[in-house]
Amino acid sequence: MSQKTTVDHDLEQESGEWTFDEEVAQQFDDHVRKSIPLYSHIQSQVLNLTDWFLQSEGDEHVYDLGCATGTTIDLLVDRYGPTAPPKFTGIDIQAPMLEKARERVGDHPSVSLVQADISTQMSFPNATVVTSLFTLSFVREEQRKRLISQIYDDLEHGGAFIFVEKTRASAPFFQDIWNEEYWDFKSRQDLSAEAILGKARTLRGQLRPLTVDEYESMLAEAGFDVERRVDIFYKWYPWTGFVARKT
Ligand SMILES: C[S@@+](CC[C@H](N)C(=O)[O-])C[C@H]1O[C@@H](n2cnc3c(N)ncnc32)[C@H](O)[C@@H]1O
Repeated sequence: MSQKTTVDHDLEQESGEWTFDEEVAQQFDDHVRKSIPLYSHIQSQVLNLTDWFLQSEGDEHVYDLGCATGTTIDLLVDRYGPTAPPKFTGIDIQAPMLEKARERVGDHPSVSLVQADISTQMSFPNATVVTSLFTLSFVREEQRKRLISQIYDDLEHGGAFIFVEKTRASAPFFQDIWNEEYWDFKSRQDLSAEAILGKARTLRGQLRPLTVDEYESMLAEAGFDVERRVDIFYKWYPWTGFVARKT
């Protein structure tokens, strides 16, 4: 039987049924900063990394998968300008999140905000950079594998897939440490023990983190050269940022 549980001061969700609904969309920007350590720092790192792959010429295109309220797309538009190239497409499955993204980013010729399910067959034409922050864990493993293969196939030569995810420790010994460091971080954000546990309950069966090794295997299977063209640019206990370049 499902029941509502507190996940932040005045935000509640059903156990095992976390959804990015209207209520979450309203509070997302505040909640995400309490939930993801160094959120703004990660956004800047991702933005800086895109500079290394975009030349601002031709048909360049950046896709942000799970764009939520549009933070990454907004930073990209500020950095590269609203008139293109490059073009920016933010993709999210949830209308309330996209609504917030539209409010934040505004209407620009270079930007499209699209409602779509990235776990279904999709294509990313002219992809120079594909970013995905804190989203892949919501996609089932088989579909995640297929998505990463599709990203590899669609990326232009020299383009990059940049993603940041919650990851499990590769050595089981460290998993408890990762968890407890993360809970401590959350309590420092003024989240109650009830809210921290409540959030974990709502995410049961929704969030499926993998280890770094498992992501590297998926990247290799998709075609990325994991030995020479994949690296980790961010690590904080259970959070890992990957950059994978297609050659
Ligand atoms: C934690 S939020 C992402 C945060 C955002 N990338 C940022 O940097 O602020 C996860 C987002 O992924 C979206 N999402 C989850 N599953 C999805 C799917 N199958 N297809 C598209 N979007 C999805 C959710 O609606 C939500 O907005």
